[in-house]
Amino acid sequence: MKNGKAWYDTDGNVIHCHGGYIIQYDGYYYWYGENRLDNNYVSCYRSKDLKTWEFRNHVLTTDSKVEQLRFNMTTDLFKTDGVGNKIKVNIERPKVLYNKRINQFVMWAHYENGRDYLEAKCAIATCDTPDGDFVFRGAFNPYGYMSRDCTLFEDEDAAYFISASRDNADLHIYRLTEDYLNVDEHVRTLFQGEYREAPALFKKDGMYYMITSFCTGWAPNQGKFSKACAIGGQWTSLKNFGDETTYRSQPAFVLPVSKNGETKYYYFGDRWGGKGKKYFESTYVVLEIKFDENNDPYIIYEDEVPDFI
Ligand code: GAL
Repeated sequence: MKNGKAWYDTDGNVIHCHGGYIIQYDGYYYWYGENRLDNNYVSCYRSKDLKTWEFRNHVLTTDSKVEQLRFNMTTDLFKTDGVGNKIKVNIERPKVLYNKRINQFVMWAHYENGRDYLEAKCAIATCDTPDGDFVFRGAFNPYGYMSRDCTLFEDEDAAYFISASRDNADLHIYRLTEDYLNVDEHVRTLFQGEYREAPALFKKDGMYYMITSFCTGWAPNQGKFSKACAIGGQWTSLKNFGDETTYRSQPAFVLPVSKNGETKYYYFGDRWGGKGKKYFESTYVVLEIKFDENNDPYIIYEDEVPDFI
C-alpha cells in the first residue's frame, strides 16, 4: 500500500473513509470516516492487520433513524429544496468510542447544514454494535460555542472532545460525561488566535501530544504539535510537525499500536483533492511517529505505508 494512492477494500472498491478515526474492538480495528457518495455520511471498514480492509456498512446516511437526545438539538439529516429533493447536510471528521457503561458505540462529528459552515455544531450518533446502523441523536453547540474540526480522545479515567471554536481561532477541550453523550466540562481553551484545525491527540508515557493543522480549507499546510503533562494543564507552544505541507496531508488521527509490550504511534492524514478527484475525497498518508531526545514527535515521509507492528 502506498501513501497518497487509492486504497481498495476486499471487494475491490476504493475505500472512502476520510477525516476518520480507528478504534480497536473485539480483535478488529474499526475504521470510520467520511463518505460523501450517494446518500452516505459515514462508512465503516474493519481489519485485523490495518492493511486488509473489509467494508462493513454505511453506518450513517440520510436515511438513518433519528432519535433526539436532548431538547433543542438539530436532528435534520437532510434539508428539502423547493421541489422536494433531499439536500444533504454536512457531517465531517466522525470519531467513535465504545462506552462500556451504556454498552454503546458513540460517534461525535462536525455538523453543518450543507449550505455553509455557519452552524458549527457537533453531532452525536449511537449504535449497539461497532458497524451497525447508527441512530442520529442530533447536533448542538457545546455550552453555546461554535464547534468545527474535532476529535475524541479516551484517557484512562475520562474521555474528551476537542473542537475548533470562535470561527476556528481557538481549540476547546471538553471532558465528556460518563456516558459520552454530552460535554461535562469545558476544561481548556488552547492556542488562542492560532487557528488550529484537524486535531489529533495521543498519549505516550504519560505525556499528551496534540497534532493540528493550520486553517486553509482543503489545502495542506504546516502541521504543528504541542504537548502537556495533564490534558487540562499547560500545553507547550506550537512547534513544527512534518514539512511545510505536512507532506501534503492534514491530520485525521493518531493510532497507537501495541505488540509484545512495544507501542508504536502512527500518524494518519488525509491528502485531500488532487487530479481528477473531488475536493472531498482524500487519499491517506500514514507515517510512523518517531520521537527525538526531547520526546518531541516527528515524521519522515515514506512512499510505502509502514509495516504496522
Ligand atoms: C478544512 C477542514 C475540513 C473541511 C474543510 C472545508 O479546514 O479541516 O474538515 O471542513 O476545511 O473547507
